[in-house]
Amino acid sequence: MKWLAGLALALTVFSVHAASKDVILPGDAKCTKCHDETESYPVLSMGKTRHGVMVDGRLPTCTGCHGNSETHTNKPEGVKIRPLPEFPYGKRTADDVGGHNQVCADCHKGGKFMDWNGSIHAARDVPCTSCHQLHVAKDKVRDKRTQAEVCFTCHKEQRVLFNKPSHHPVPEGKVACSDCHASHGSAGPKLMTRDSIANTCFTCHMEKRGPFVRKHEPAEDCTICHNPHGAATDNLLKVRSPMLCQQCHEPSSHRGNFPSFAAGASTGGLNITQARGCLNCHTNIHGTNNPANAGNERTFRR
Ligand code: HEC
Ligand code: HEC
Ligand code: HEC
Ligand code: HEC
Ligand code: HEC
Ligand code: HEC
Ligand code: HEC
Ligand code: HEC
Ligand code: HEC
Ligand code: HEC
Repeated sequence: MKWLAGLALALTVFSVHAASKDVILPGDAKCTKCHDETESYPVLSMGKTRHGVMVDGRLPTCTGCHGNSETHTNKPEGVKIRPLPEFPYGKRTADDVGGHNQVCADCHKGGKFMDWNGSIHAARDVPCTSCHQLHVAKDKVRDKRTQAEVCFTCHKEQRVLFNKPSHHPVPEGKVACSDCHASHGSAGPKLMTRDSIANTCFTCHMEKRGPFVRKHEPAEDCTICHNPHGAATDNLLKVRSPMLCQQCHEPSSHRGNFPSFAAGASTGGLNITQARGCLNCHTNIHGTNNPANAGNERTFRR
């Protein structure tokens, strides 16, 4: 009986908007004579968004997004159920994601959207409108404090990681997914905002770029040791030291004053499996500049 409810709606709305004047967008009377703020999804809130500026000629009106929709606005005689608009959006976006996205992409192209077509979100048929809400005053995905909620609807694994004790302050609203990821596509890997993971990290952690006289070789790839989203171990470390280091460095090969570095071995009163382990001595693990002491410089010590 959906058409009956629709008919009732159409009738009430007709009586309210007998004059059929544009309400928020040029030419919207064609639609707003039936659709207005009294609906379960109050469409006129668009007037409070960037798309709702009456005088900006670059902006779409109702038909700019939903299509001309002639049979929808003027139900042909003898047809029982009102045909849908050409681009109904909402749940029906799934029937033709490419077509619905193209409506938006026809206007939003170049610049930040240059890499959209090659992006994984486009390739996987993720609708623009699964991230963006256009008929509401606040578009959650463009607000740092609410953005993650939108992403988490699809990326559940990242929700779990951001709940771990050590995490980038995304749940706290201080860092956003979009500080590291370009949702519309990027030239870098994993939708990074820069051309590489490390260069993305350096936008905030400049001191890790160096230049260092001696660089710890694997430090180029931050994700060898860090999980950027969250970890159980301090400093976003995937594994605790010394195990972290011993993935690559043989415990038994440690030279110098320490005869044996078997796990748990005592080293001048320092048990390397305790506390920060290797990091008690190798304090500058990303790289060093210590011209006064070549040995310390070589082994990332102060
Ligand atoms: C004569 C009245 C009338 C006019 C004019 C009209 N609509 Fe509708 N529209 C309806 C009715 C009735 C429904 C069905 C509502 C329901 O099922 O809850 C509907 C549903 C819709 C839907 C939801 C479709 C879906 O997924 O179920 C969209 C989107 C829509 N209209 C957009 C528009 C646009 C854009 C215009 C102007 C180009 C327009 N309408 C003009 C009566 C109208
Ligand atoms: C910038 C593009 C855009 C413009 C302009 C636009 N819409 Fe929409 N409209 C959408 C999207 C996207 C949705 C789906 C909303 C959702 O998924 O919550 C939608 C949903 C709707 C719905 C269905 C709501 C429901 O019941 O699910 C109606 C009705 C509607 N729009 C009418 C209008 C009218 C009337 C206008 C002009 C005043 C208009 N739209 C202008 C993009 C647009
Ligand atoms: C007819 C062209 C046109 C269409 C179609 C269109 N837009 Fe827009 N949109 C614009 C313009 C112009 C602006 C204002 C941009 C500016 O100020 O730089 C805008 C603004 C926006 C903004 C807000 C940006 C801001 O700075 O606040 C978002 C988000 C957006 N559009 C998404 C969409 C999505 C998603 C669709 C498809 C459902 C869509 N647009 C369809 C032209 C269009
Ligand atoms: C995976 C989620 C996601 C998808 C899909 C998505 N966007 Fe966005 N969009 C965002 C986020 C997050 C921002 C804010 C941060 C930014 O600018 O990168 C944004 C910002 C925007 C803006 C404002 C840009 C500005 O200059 O401030 C526009 C316009 C826009 N998107 C349009 C679109 C269009 C059109 C599509 C589909 C072709 C789309 N978006 C698909 C997440 C998404
Ligand atoms: C501090 C930077 C940073 C922030 C903030 C961030 N990410 Fe990431 N993300 C990365 C890096 C680096 C990778 C690639 C390495 C990896 O998967 O560990 C990645 C990978 C991903 C992947 C792909 C995972 C895979 O297995 O390939 C998804 C999905 C993702 N991030 C979603 C999110 C979401 C959602 C948010 C916000 C809630 C977010 N990210 C916030 C840096 C970040
Ligand atoms: C409607 C579902 C949906 C939403 C919402 C969504 N994504 Fe995705 N995202 C996907 C799909 C599907 C993939 C493809 C890989 C996969 O299946 O996980 C993907 C992949 C990614 C990747 C991995 C890129 C790569 O190269 O492997 C990142 C990073 C990412 N999304 C970030 C985000 C961010 C940030 C947001 C919120 C602004 C977001 N996504 C919102 C569906 C979504
Ligand atoms: C948008 C800025 C920004 C970007 C980009 C960024 N970070 Fe961070 N990072 C932060 C902030 C803010 C903190 C928290 C500092 C605090 O709490 O004092 C942080 C903290 C950290 C910490 C310490 C966590 C802890 O438990 O104390 C590590 C490790 C880290 N970031 C690594 C990375 C890596 C790796 C990347 C790239 C994948 C990256 N960051 C990209 C802003 C950023
Ligand atoms: C070989 C492992 C390893 C790699 C690779 C690595 N880190 Fe770290 N990082 C660590 C360890 C271990 C700590 C904890 C240091 C401590 O406790 O003294 C740390 C701490 C940090 C911190 C927080 C403490 C501080 O010193 O500010 C940031 C930020 C950070 N790393 C960023 C990065 C960035 C950015 C990259 C990539 C360019 C990177 N890391 C690559 C091992 C690594
Ligand atoms: C992904 C593998 C990897 C991990 C994990 C790793 N390293 Fe390294 N490390 C290397 C490589 C490769 C070199 C360079 C070896 C060379 O120059 O001969 C190196 C060099 C070093 C050196 C200088 C060696 C020399 O001969 O001068 C020290 C000290 C060091 N690492 C300590 C650590 C510590 C402490 C950790 C844990 C926080 C760690 N490394 C984690 C791969 C790793
Ligand atoms: C008590 C301080 C201390 C601790 C703890 C420590 N180291 Fe060292 N490490 C040194 C010193 C001092 C040197 C320099 C030895 C030399 O120049 O002959 C060194 C040298 C190294 C080297 C260079 C190669 C070599 O054998 O000379 C590597 C690799 C290394 N340490 C890794 C580690 C790892 C991995 C751990 C944790 C399992 C660790 N160290 C714990 C003090 C320490």
